[in-house]
Amino acid sequence: MSESELRLRRATVYDIDYLLALQAGPEVSPFLAVGRPSTHEELLPEIERSLVEPEAFGRLLIEIPIEREWRLAGAIGFERTNRRSRIARLGPLAVHPDFRGSGLGAAAIHELARILFAEFGYHRLEATVYGFNERGMVVVESAGFVREGVRRRAYWVEPDWVDGVEFALLADELEAEA
Ligand SMILES: CC(C)(COP(=O)(O)OP(=O)(O)OC[C@H]1O[C@@H](n2cnc3c(N)ncnc32)[C@H](O)[C@@H]1OP(=O)(O)O)[C@@H](O)C(=O)NCCC(=O)NCCS
Repeated sequence: MSESELRLRRATVYDIDYLLALQAGPEVSPFLAVGRPSTHEELLPEIERSLVEPEAFGRLLIEIPIEREWRLAGAIGFERTNRRSRIARLGPLAVHPDFRGSGLGAAAIHELARILFAEFGYHRLEATVYGFNERGMVVVESAGFVREGVRRRAYWVEPDWVDGVEFALLADELEAEA
């Protein structure tokens, strides 16, 4: 799937139930950061921050056109981690199980990277994927990210310590690809 076949829309309070249900699903939950917001009260401040500080923080919905209507297919996020060096970190990415298998995840990352580099002026985008998430790593690399290293046994994910594999994409790498 190409980016022209999807759009990223900023989440509002009306999307909170969808986001919580998506992230809690058994085919999504094990792969996302354990400490993420999991209740309405915890997620609301993130949605508000995304609306108030659109260039520093984002909670976005992935939408695809089906029968001439935009339909929810997943979610993606980002957060600025270094203002001076213009670095952002990829936030929670999930494609709803009904919409998997056509490269939507990589296309959504690619579209987010385009926005962050071209519209918001970022220089570098970073992502961490759990070492057991083979599909997550394939998707991040399909979007052009380069594997930079491993934070060995960095995270406690019941019942064990797991690696965090670090990836990054630079603005000129996306431009070169284009
Ligand atoms: C990761 C995720 C977003 C990808 O969804 P998607 O874009 O529909 O992914 P696809 O099914 O099209 O598969 C993407 C690639 O992974 C490959 N893949 C799928 N399962 C795999 C596995 N178990 N091991 C290795 N590769 C796998 C596919 O072959 C495909 O490769 P290709 O692009 O070279 O053909 C989705 O699976 C998801 O929401 N997972 C749960 C949350 C998560 O892991 N988020 C990412 C954290 S960084």
